[in-house]
Amino acid sequence: MAAPDQPADDPLTGHSYDGIQEYDNPTPGWWNAIFIGTILFAPVYAIWFHSANASNTVADSYQSALAANMRLQFGEIGTLEPDEATILTYMNKPDWLKVGAVTFASNCASCHGREGEGVSGPNMTDDRYLNVKTIEDIAKVIREGAKNGAMPAWGNRLHPNEVVLAAAYVASLRGKNLPSARLAEGNEIPPWPAAPVAAESN
Ligand code: HEC
Repeated sequence: MAAPDQPADDPLTGHSYDGIQEYDNPTPGWWNAIFIGTILFAPVYAIWFHSANASNTVADSYQSALAANMRLQFGEIGTLEPDEATILTYMNKPDWLKVGAVTFASNCASCHGREGEGVSGPNMTDDRYLNVKTIEDIAKVIREGAKNGAMPAWGNRLHPNEVVLAAAYVASLRGKNLPSARLAEGNEIPPWPAAPVAAESN
């Protein structure tokens, strides 16, 4: 039975379900082309997306943007030497100390505590140290690690400037004497030397 408003050139399909009939209107060719196109595209894209060599994920591009930004910033200061004068100088540059704080928060806080108060790694807010006698030793321990890797070596994982800035940040935590779950450990060492006179803060 033809529906009353059925156009002459638009035939009905032959079937009827519960009395419901259907015009024979196949999905348009362009629609089918897009549909099949997405099916063909999906496995190619999936393989490309998951391939290990390309940095395709949002997290990857965020990391490379961070690294690019870091290189841009570090362009200003060149490569820092992990020596006493440099560490003391950067302890007095609040903007750069923040970079050290970020490095610390993302790599070190899990063992040393968010404020450096000590968790599985020692408290760094008091005057006692296990492996540190001079301020340079902080950078050395960060680069080389300590106690057979209980303190991991970061020399290959951090930019040399990150090592120096993290060292400056760690040095700046001294004297906060935060309450710690850890017992006092190591030996009391002399105060850090005064910052070099040339250190202007920025
Ligand atoms: C996996 C846990 C762990 C991580 C992550 C870690 N540390 Fe340590 N760190 C330790 C341990 C444990 C020690 C103590 C080693 C020892 O007993 O001689 C230590 C010691 C140190 C020391 C010497 C402290 C002292 O009293 O002599 C410094 C400085 C230090 N870490 C800085 C850092 C910095 C900066 C980072 C991040 C870049 C970091 N650590 C990441 C576990 C860790």
